[in-house]
Amino acid sequence: MLTETRSFPPAPEFAAQANAQAHLYNEAANDRLEFWAHQARTHVTWKTPFTETLDWSNAPVARWFGDGTLNAAYNAVDRHVAAGNGDRVALHFEGEPGDTRTVTYADLQREVSRAANALASLGVTTGDRVVIYLPMIVEAVVAMLACARIGATHSVVFGGFSADALRSRIADAGAKIVITADGGFRRGKASALKPAVDEALTGDSPVEHVVVVRRTGQETAWAEGRDVWWHDITETADIEHTPVWVEAEHPLFILYTSGTTGKPKGILHTTGGYLTQAAYTHYNVFDVKPETDVYWCTADIGWITGHSYVVYGPLLNGATQVIYEGTPDSPHQGRWWEIIEKYKVSLFYTAPTAIRTCMKWGEDIPNKYDLSSLRVLGSVGESINPEAWMWYRRVIGANTAPIVDTWWQTETGAIMISPLPGVTATKPGSAQRPLPGISAEVVNDSAEAVPNGSGGYLVLTEPWPAMLRGIWGDLERYKDTYWSRFEGLYFAGDGAKKDEDGDIWLLGRVDDVMNVSGHRLSTMEIESALVSHDFVAEAAVVGAADDTTGQAVVAFVILREEHAQNAGTAEGSESIQIDLRNHVAKEIGPIAKPRTILVVPELPKTRSGKIMRRLLRDIAENRTVGDATTLADSSVMDLIASGLSSKARS
Ligand code: PRX
Repeated sequence: MLTETRSFPPAPEFAAQANAQAHLYNEAANDRLEFWAHQARTHVTWKTPFTETLDWSNAPVARWFGDGTLNAAYNAVDRHVAAGNGDRVALHFEGEPGDTRTVTYADLQREVSRAANALASLGVTTGDRVVIYLPMIVEAVVAMLACARIGATHSVVFGGFSADALRSRIADAGAKIVITADGGFRRGKASALKPAVDEALTGDSPVEHVVVVRRTGQETAWAEGRDVWWHDITETADIEHTPVWVEAEHPLFILYTSGTTGKPKGILHTTGGYLTQAAYTHYNVFDVKPETDVYWCTADIGWITGHSYVVYGPLLNGATQVIYEGTPDSPHQGRWWEIIEKYKVSLFYTAPTAIRTCMKWGEDIPNKYDLSSLRVLGSVGESINPEAWMWYRRVIGANTAPIVDTWWQTETGAIMISPLPGVTATKPGSAQRPLPGISAEVVNDSAEAVPNGSGGYLVLTEPWPAMLRGIWGDLERYKDTYWSRFEGLYFAGDGAKKDEDGDIWLLGRVDDVMNVSGHRLSTMEIESALVSHDFVAEAAVVGAADDTTGQAVVAFVILREEHAQNAGTAEGSESIQIDLRNHVAKEIGPIAKPRTILVVPELPKTRSGKIMRRLLRDIAENRTVGDATTLADSSVMDLIASGLSSKARS
């Protein structure tokens, strides 16, 4: 067993050259607002400089740099070309089948300008919403920046979400345009995307046009008048486009994420503060040297990590990066390491679940490749267990590359808690300290800071530039979800503890949100999907510990009487499970499919009718069931247990 006290001080030669230096902490502590104003001037180019750093008078809705104006695409692209770096590679694209494309900053400026003109020709203007449903291809980055260039608000929907999930996001955002592709390449095959869009747009829809990127060349149904090819409208478009200067608080994007209720929340991010913190954190946490580094973040643009650390953070810093379309095991389990060797990737950012999967495949695989270019390794999405941390450091990082375990959320917009490479002595398994300028605390039920060595709830005690500005169209839900648990404090939904040094260790969600392979899933959303199936009378979902995915979805279902009989036989039970898993995939997406579905006669409930998920989690994790005295009917647990064990015997 690895101990918590183990720590790895920075190498002196790394520390001497590091972007981040220890004085950042003092500067931020002395004058937090002046510190952020300085970061905003350093990392962002403003059309009109701001004079006010923060207006918190309308808390919890913040205004950062409120009277400044700027454009996100100009900051990500044009200013690098203007500074003479147009020939620098912005994107090394690697398609899953092995096709590649190199895009310089000058290329990106042309592509984004053309796409902005093309979108404008379809009637998109400042303030409109555009849904982007694309694979990890160059056009995904271009589409996001083209929206930002004209002041349209993008809402990227992960390509793995179903037509139903897409439909509800399009409706909630009131999107005028959807940008998609015929399909993408995944696990050696072309998979389709456009049919999901067609299905999502049946019936009433606010969408006027669907723009389709040709990626795979597969047959695609076509709605005349509604659908247009990306290449048709961009190739003929002008390569000059004047960016629309927007106010700092102009909505840059909406990104939907799961919460504790059945309905995903549209997290709203605005422009000036978000860009400031995305660029500042990318610069300091990854120590990026744009002239020499090659950076690679494996996240899909459908998640917040793809927004902040594939698109905005790295491009604002003028970095060269790799984007890869496919999975780590296509066509072989060394694909990622092959890519690192090929492009000499020096900064690498991925999720613990991926690291654990690679551990399972064995270190012989990465050992076949030259990974000596790597100098900083990042982790995000869930706590990284010390074993995986040590493997990452030893096998991938040659025992030298510092590991930054970065804690943040869709809502925080950018990294909040993380070591600074070159400054922090890193500890396997701990995200450690709030970054300079960020104020976090671990508190007890009464909102009091816990002493070192104790646990509680993670809260953020001061507003930060990249914070969400609300939930799209639902200010009350924003206040209720994040600001009502502890007066004046942002409640993140995570449990945490402080060790004897005051370093923070994340302990997982304390609400009904699960974390499966670093993806956030709501127990309620999956329960709603299950009960929408004809066979299901009631469902309860829990996240159970899983060696690879961190947590796995385990569902307990009560079948309607007419189907319960059927479930008694082995074939019947198997076919019901397949049906239900497919149903969840259809309602939400394949990522939400339960790993295990257990058919039970009853669910454990309190007298007020609340399902006691804690007890179900005990069963799902094969533990002795804990205190069940608050159950309305205490025999329920025996009933469930005997039902499950008789099934195991059959
Ligand atoms: O529970 C925390 C976990 O992921 C949640 C945020 O999920 P999402 O909004 O999808 O964003 C993921 C990428 C930023 C958090 O509430 N989480 C994220 N990073 C870490 C983490 N838990 C522990 N350690 C981390 N480094």
